[in-house]
Amino acid sequence: MFTTASVPASLPKDLFSAIENLKKELNAIVLAHYYQEPDIQDIADYIGDSLGLSQKAAATDAEVIVFAGVHFMAETAKILNPNKLVLLPDLEAGCSLADSCPPTEFAKFKTAHSDHIVVSYINCTAEIKAMSDIICTSSNAVKLVNQISPEQSIIFAPDRNLGRYVAAQTGRDLVLWQGSCIVHETFSEKKMLQLKMEHPNAEIVAHPECEEAILRHANYIGSTTALLKYVESSETEQFIVVTEPGIIHQMEKQVPHKLFIPAPPDANCQCNECPHMRLNTLEKLYLAMKNRTPEITLPKDIQQQALVPIQRMLTMSA
Ligand code: 13P
Ligand code: SF4
Repeated sequence: MFTTASVPASLPKDLFSAIENLKKELNAIVLAHYYQEPDIQDIADYIGDSLGLSQKAAATDAEVIVFAGVHFMAETAKILNPNKLVLLPDLEAGCSLADSCPPTEFAKFKTAHSDHIVVSYINCTAEIKAMSDIICTSSNAVKLVNQISPEQSIIFAPDRNLGRYVAAQTGRDLVLWQGSCIVHETFSEKKMLQLKMEHPNAEIVAHPECEEAILRHANYIGSTTALLKYVESSETEQFIVVTEPGIIHQMEKQVPHKLFIPAPPDANCQCNECPHMRLNTLEKLYLAMKNRTPEITLPKDIQQQALVPIQRMLTMSA
C-alpha cells in the first residue's frame, strides 16, 4: 500500500481518488490481470484471465483502455480496438513466453509444417498472432482444439507445457513450439510435496503452464479464473497454489476463511512472482492516465492480420 510518506511530491497523496477522477475525465476503463499487485487489482474496473480480459476489451464502449497487465495483453486490446487509446503503465512489461517465440524462427517452423494449421496461445506477440489461424487461452484451449477436424494437423505455439496438457486432454498429436514461461517453470516439485506433507488436507491447484512433474500432482488444473472459481466452490479449506501468487489476493477476498499457500520456487528467490507483470505499479498507472502515455501502437497490416484469429477465438469460445 502507498503511504503518504512514500509519495513523491509530484504525485497526489490519494492515488486511488486521483485514478477514479481520471477514469471519468478520460472515459477510461482499467482492465487488470490477477497477477497485478493488490492495489492495482483493487482499483480495476474488471479483473480477469486472458480470455475474460479479451472479451471485456472487445465489448467495452470506454474511449480509453488502461491495461494493467503485460504487453501482449494490451496489444490484443489494441488489435480489437484499433481506434481507441490503449495505455500500458510500463511498456517494458513483456513476457518470457512471448519472447520465446521469435517471428523469424517461427515462420521457418511453419514452413517446415506447411500442411498444419497454427493454434497459438494468446501469450505471444502480434506478429505471431498474425501468422496464426486460431488464438486460444488457457481457459479455452482444450475446447477450441476439440472443434478442429481430427484429420487436420496442428502446430501449437508457443507454450510447450500448455501444449502438452492440451494434447493429453484432447488425444491430439500436436506439434509443439518449445517455448515456456519462466514463472511457471520455476516451481519445485520437491518443495511442493514437502508443503503437501505439512498440510495434508490441502489440495494442489495448478496452472497448465506448469511442467508435467507439477501437474501430475494437481487436484485441479485450470486458468487463473478457473482456479479462482474452483477454490471458491470446493469444500476444501486449504490450497497450495501453483501459479503466480498475485491470484491469491482475489482468492483471499472471495473466500477469506480459507488458507492459500503459494507454491515455492526452486531457488531461494521471489521468482514465482512474474517480473514483467510486477513492473506495473499504481504510480505508473496514474501517470499513464494523466499523461496519456505510454500508448500501444501497431503496424496496420499486423493489426488486421492478427485480428482474424482473435475473432475466431471469440466466436469459437462463445
Ligand atoms: P490466464 O490468466 O489466462 O490463466 O494466463 C496466465 C498467464 O500466464 C498470463 O500471462
Ligand atoms: Fe508471461 Fe509467464 Fe509472466 Fe504470464 S506469468 S506474463 S506467461 S512470463
